[in-house]
Amino acid sequence: MKTAFITGITGQDGSYLAEHLLTQGYRVVGMMRRTATPSTERIEGILDQVEIAHGDLLDQSSLMRLLEEYQPDEIYNLAAQSFVHASFHEPIHTAEVTAVGVSRLLEAMRLVVPGARYYQASSSEMFGKVSETPQKESTPFHPRSPYGVSKVYAHWATVNYRESYDLFCCSGILFNHESPRRGIEFVTRKITAGVAAIVFGKQEGIPLGNLDARRDWGFAGDYVEAMHLMLQQDEPKDFVVATGETHSVRDFCRIAFSRVGLDYEDFVSVDPKFYRPAEVDLLLGDPSLARENLGWTPRTSFEELVHLMVDSDLAHHKDLGLQVQKGSLPESLLTTT
Ligand code: NAP
Ligand code: GDD
Repeated sequence: MKTAFITGITGQDGSYLAEHLLTQGYRVVGMMRRTATPSTERIEGILDQVEIAHGDLLDQSSLMRLLEEYQPDEIYNLAAQSFVHASFHEPIHTAEVTAVGVSRLLEAMRLVVPGARYYQASSSEMFGKVSETPQKESTPFHPRSPYGVSKVYAHWATVNYRESYDLFCCSGILFNHESPRRGIEFVTRKITAGVAAIVFGKQEGIPLGNLDARRDWGFAGDYVEAMHLMLQQDEPKDFVVATGETHSVRDFCRIAFSRVGLDYEDFVSVDPKFYRPAEVDLLLGDPSLARENLGWTPRTSFEELVHLMVDSDLAHHKDLGLQVQKGSLPESLLTTT
């Protein structure tokens, strides 16, 4: 039985990856940092099947101790301060966790378990002000936020440990991926949670920032499979993971509101406080290498993703016994209970 060590197991991707690795027969160890209120909501369903280990990317000794104790075959580094907007307000903290934290973990791996395989959660935010479209593995980086800058550092640190010490280190350059477990501050979930709150009379409208930003949005459940596949190859390599389609925030709003028979223009307003000092206007990935080398392709379309998220937020409100105040529930939700 192989042991996988996942940092960030309480996050969106960590929860899906842990579930996927359990189905593949892994012993799964998830690292969690100490917080006043435990953030295990996303892994409630598998808490009895995974081992939780307490540690922090800010603390070198905890990383060394955990790798020594669990001797993982595979290390998935998903932990980060991952919210781009917050990185402008907390640039030093973001750099400490998202950039230097990666050096801490790589150094722990080099010293304690050099035979393990390492996955780094790199990001399409590294392309930032893009110099070509679509973006592929060779596209130059031009990050536009402290988060993006930190991910570029982390990415090159991963490449450097591969080249310097011959360690099996890979980066997945993942484009935006979402799910019903997406954090509420990210735009997709803010919209779908907002739609549900409007339908059930809990909210009047949704204030957003730049509606014209375009992203290549996929489903997180599909993307964690690519992470695992990268560590099963003969040679370590970096891969873009994306759908190959781009849509605007406005498109997302239109589909989300039309799912409940409403027009987004009646509910969405623009508030400059959600604009960023520097924006990433357009992301569109070319996943050809992942398709050819890993046999990976996304299975969930953009429209299916939006519906999946809206339906989940609606179901949550419906389960609370609330009554529909505006719009209508999709057919599937009318028949489930
Ligand atoms: P997420 O939901 O924000 O999860 C981040 C995880 O990191 C949480 O479990 C969080 O723990 C943990 N964490 C934060 N600071 C830590 C620290 N100092 N020590 C240990 N753990 C810490 O992010 P996600 O969407 O799952 O993304 C996973 C990774 O992929 C991140 O590195 C992100 O930057 C990267 N990425 C994401 C996307 C995307 O579209 N989702 C795309 C490309 C790359 P708490 O629960 O305690 O906060
Ligand atoms: N969060 C947010 N809130 N974003 C908004 C809003 C709003 O009210 N209004 C418009 N946007 C725009 C942002 O300006 C951005 O252009 C786009 O919506 C997406 O924002 P987020 O959902 O916050 O995601 P992100 O693209 O900045 O970052 C996510 O994807 C990266 C991969 O490209 C995060 O998951 C990162 O961790 C990840 O690396």
